[in-house]
Amino acid sequence: METISKLSLFVFFFSFVLIVPAFQANIGYLDEVLEGRKLESLRHARELFVTDTDDHIAEFNQHVRMALEGTNSTRRSLRKKHIGGRCLATNPIDRCWRCRPDWATDRKRLATCVKGFGRNTVGGKYGRIYVVTNPTDNDMVNPKPGTLRHAVIQKEPLWIIFARNMVITLKQELLVSSHKTIDGRGAQVHIAYGAGITVQFARNVIIHNLRIHDTISTSGGLIRDSVDHIGLRTTSDGDGVSVYGSTNVWIDHLSMSNCKDGLIDIIEGSTAITVSNNHMTRHNDVMLFGAHDDQPLDSIMQITVAFNHFGQGLIQRMPRCRWGFVHVVNNDYTHWIMYAIGGSHNPTIVSQGNRYIAPPNLAAKNVTHRIDAPESVWKDWTWVSEGDLLMNGAVFVPSGTPQNVKKYSRKDKIKVKPATYVTRLTRFAGALNCKVGKPC
Ligand SMILES: *[C@@H]1O[C@H](CO)[C@@H](O)[C@H](O)[C@H]1NC(C)=O
Ligand SMILES: *[C@@H]1O[C@H](CO)[C@@H](O)[C@H](O)[C@H]1NC(C)=O
Repeated sequence: METISKLSLFVFFFSFVLIVPAFQANIGYLDEVLEGRKLESLRHARELFVTDTDDHIAEFNQHVRMALEGTNSTRRSLRKKHIGGRCLATNPIDRCWRCRPDWATDRKRLATCVKGFGRNTVGGKYGRIYVVTNPTDNDMVNPKPGTLRHAVIQKEPLWIIFARNMVITLKQELLVSSHKTIDGRGAQVHIAYGAGITVQFARNVIIHNLRIHDTISTSGGLIRDSVDHIGLRTTSDGDGVSVYGSTNVWIDHLSMSNCKDGLIDIIEGSTAITVSNNHMTRHNDVMLFGAHDDQPLDSIMQITVAFNHFGQGLIQRMPRCRWGFVHVVNNDYTHWIMYAIGGSHNPTIVSQGNRYIAPPNLAAKNVTHRIDAPESVWKDWTWVSEGDLLMNGAVFVPSGTPQNVKKYSRKDKIKVKPATYVTRLTRFAGALNCKVGKPC
């Protein structure tokens, strides 16, 4: 109750908050608890930073070596789940769980399936199952048991599932604490028409099989982020999923569209992250990795973007990066209006085995887009394309010193799956309709 008594203090300070230049992180008042979490997150990020990215990439690519036929048609084949009566799990993440009919009784198996930089993410594997039964979100300070908000603020690890189909309209950002899995399999769960999901100064979070769309910016205020802490939040941007100063996060099989700000933002020293199997549509600023040129902390950022389908109605930023290291592998880029991958401030981008289908517009054929830097500067940024399939006149403009480029290809003896396989690898991107007792 110690925290509650501080509430009046917070409210007292609120007037100052309005005057003092806005605190970062949507935090209205950075108290000791939040300051502690921030420092702890930084420590985790440093521990998780991988120095030998070559080995890491080689290992990932080894997983992708699978014997399935590819196609280089610009059309995506119909999403038939069982071809010839067989469940086809076409990529190494899905292959680990998707064709097993016992997914509902062995949900935690999923925690062993992640690959890429987020590969050690186990979410709520070591906790009990928490069933969300109530789709409402009315009380930000004392959320009702049975609601998603009540589940994510618990201290212990939890594997959170849903009793039935539901549309959850979040009144304010959903602040997810460490060691949680939000597992939407078995129900159609929409996070829509309200705030989005925020993972801030937390670690070990899996977000899986949800439909996140039409999120809006919300006003902020007092929001409980833990059973023993309430924080004061400022206005939220309206991101679908925002990862801030957090480590070991896996975002998998989401269908995302039309959010107020980004679909996925990963910023402020976040690392050890995999973004996989998502289907994104109808959106302008798709993914932002690193928000500020003056945030060198983001050089710790290491993110894998794999097996996603960037589809209809997308405009730019898939992703738009600063500082960090991004491995973009076996994604299907079927639509963009401005560009696919952008960046500023010397991010390293290794693009392998993706399919890039340029739009008809002759002025938008470039996959890549450098921002706020003349060629004399960006020529030194390491942006590598290996085995990408460039279609409809798509152009990936590489950069970087020859030694750097070599560094990523020479040691990478095990080749990524050719881009011609991408339609297969991404065929089941997005939220899945899983039926109990059947493969998903
Ligand atoms: C695409 O298909 C054509 C015709 O089947 C084939 O000749 C070509 O080699 C293929 N391209 C790639 C990159 O696989
Ligand atoms: C593509 O990028 C290159 C290198 O920055 C630039 O010279 C060219 O004008 C760009 N093409 C288009 C169509 O914007």
